[in-house]
Amino acid sequence: MGFHMHGMWSFGGEKVETPTTILLRKLFRYMMPYKLAVFTIVTCVALVSLTNMISPYLLGLAIDNYILVGDLSGLLNISLLYLLVMFMNWIATVIQGYAVEWTGQRLIYDFRNKLMEKLMFQSYKYYDDKRTGELISIVINDTSTLRESFISGIFNIIGDIFSMVGVIIAMFLLNVPLTLITLLTLPVMFLLAYVFSRKFRKAYRRTREKIAEVTTRVQESVSGIRVIQAFGREEDSQARFQMSAHEQFEAQVQAGKLMAIFWPVINFVGSIGTVTVLLYGGFLSAEGRLEIGVLVAFLAYVTRFMNPIMQLTNFYDMLQSALAASDRIFKVLESEVDVEDSPNAIELPKVRGDIRYNNVWFEYVKGIPVLKGINLHIRPGEKIAIVGPTGSGKTTLVYLLARFYDVTSGSITIDGYDIRNVKQDSLRRQIAFVPQDTFLFRGTVMDNIRIGKPNATDDEVIEVCKRLGIHDFIMRLPNGYYTDAGEAGRKLSTGERQLLSFARALLKDPPILILDEAISAVDPKTEYMIKYAIRKLLENRTSIIIAHRLTLARDWDRIIVLHNGVIEEEGTHEELMLKQGFYYQLYTTQISEEIGIEVTGKNNSNSKS
Ligand SMILES: Nc1ncnc2c1ncn2[C@@H]1O[C@H](COP(=O)(O)OP(=O)(O)O)[C@@H](O)[C@H]1O
Ligand SMILES: [Mg+2]
Repeated sequence: MGFHMHGMWSFGGEKVETPTTILLRKLFRYMMPYKLAVFTIVTCVALVSLTNMISPYLLGLAIDNYILVGDLSGLLNISLLYLLVMFMNWIATVIQGYAVEWTGQRLIYDFRNKLMEKLMFQSYKYYDDKRTGELISIVINDTSTLRESFISGIFNIIGDIFSMVGVIIAMFLLNVPLTLITLLTLPVMFLLAYVFSRKFRKAYRRTREKIAEVTTRVQESVSGIRVIQAFGREEDSQARFQMSAHEQFEAQVQAGKLMAIFWPVINFVGSIGTVTVLLYGGFLSAEGRLEIGVLVAFLAYVTRFMNPIMQLTNFYDMLQSALAASDRIFKVLESEVDVEDSPNAIELPKVRGDIRYNNVWFEYVKGIPVLKGINLHIRPGEKIAIVGPTGSGKTTLVYLLARFYDVTSGSITIDGYDIRNVKQDSLRRQIAFVPQDTFLFRGTVMDNIRIGKPNATDDEVIEVCKRLGIHDFIMRLPNGYYTDAGEAGRKLSTGERQLLSFARALLKDPPILILDEAISAVDPKTEYMIKYAIRKLLENRTSIIIAHRLTLARDWDRIIVLHNGVIEEEGTHEELMLKQGFYYQLYTTQISEEIGIEVTGKNNSNSKS
């Protein structure tokens, strides 16, 4: 087959690796800021339970002590009392509902902000082994799961426990034998509720998994549409989607069916209690051992068991999903940031751009060095090219300079400052890094260029584009600088989008410039523009250009040839050609390939991506 739809992260997997007590302790610690809200909720929950408990009691009292006796003024009083109790119940319910929603939503909001803040400052290394979908799912889904199961769940359960205990106490106060008999039905109700709710939860979880699967299929198929079409896999992809969609359909129908049976069954099970009270209470009453009002109160109480029982049977599942969600959330929040400002990091003053690599070693994976003892001195204003085969460590070399990763051993200095001793933002302010592909954010073309200098005026942006010689093609876009970036992204070629990156960099105007293969995927029409723009961009800056196409590396002050993580050769183009070493080989091979390509006419330089 060869076509493999991977990327199924484990949606809502309920595996928890951290011990429950630790997770709960952390969760409660995070709840501390909401002390007041929690206190309000608990008070309201208690009030609601209490008033719920009192009302049937008053009902029984009204029947036995007033109606049956014929005391009408007493009846009026107790009716007013009943009304007052229900009024309190109403107010407490409203406040509770609002407070629960507020706390839950606030928790989502705070956790999402904390997560994003963490993610924004996390290092490259962290993202190396993370899937985007997984992180999105934690920020979006896990936070809302936490609200549902932890906040709403936990207060429901507290309320239910209050109610149940309250009801049982009230029943005992009214009549002990009838209470004992009624309580005997509880285990049966628990068992039945448990069995059904488990089935129901399972079906429900399956629908959630299937929804997530369908979503991923859409996401992957749409973002990979070019690949799918290029390899003629449309039908295949469609078939896979249909399979997932059909599984979702079946899961939903199954859940719907259970749901349809579920509540009637629960009501039926609840009636076991009612029937028990009716039979035994009726028997006691017939024998004159039970007042009719007490019987009525009992009948009201016994229906109040079912809801708490249902909730309590869900307790374990709910706790499990809250723990699983919080486990994943805390893992992100507590992940170590391996590139961090040291406590006594200083502000790097404006540099001239004197860069030194001192015996730099680096490994992504322990024991596998990618850079092996790099010694390199780049003078202020010097323009060097780094060349070498794919995988030789070129990108890694410049990543280290921007401190996206820390060196494994050795050091890198700029103007004599070890970059580990300065604040990261003061370091990165002085470096413009232009990666191979240009990422366009939401907004206009103007907004996207302004990323280089957020407080730049429109005129400044336009001025920079004019200097780079790209003003005209931006003006040719439907709305010029105010064209939506998404639309511009589709209309521009890779090379043209690259030019927008250059504009970002020139607007930033830093002393050090890094271009990582920024000139490889360029069509001839744009190549001239790019060359012109680059020359402008490099003026008065220390520049490092990683060039895949060696013909573009010729003009720089010095060429560094990297091979297997060591500097194999360095010098000017002429020197290296004379030497007839590794560079000479690379160069001659590439030239003959390029000529070959042109002869067979198979260049794909017009490709847009
Ligand atoms: N994030 C990473 N994790 C592990 N290995 C990596 C990572 N990035 C690059 N490498 C490895 O490091 C080596 C050098 O990569 P790179 O610096 O990207 O080379 P170049 O830019 O010269 O093509 C390659 O063997 C590559 O597989
Ligand atoms: Mg690279």
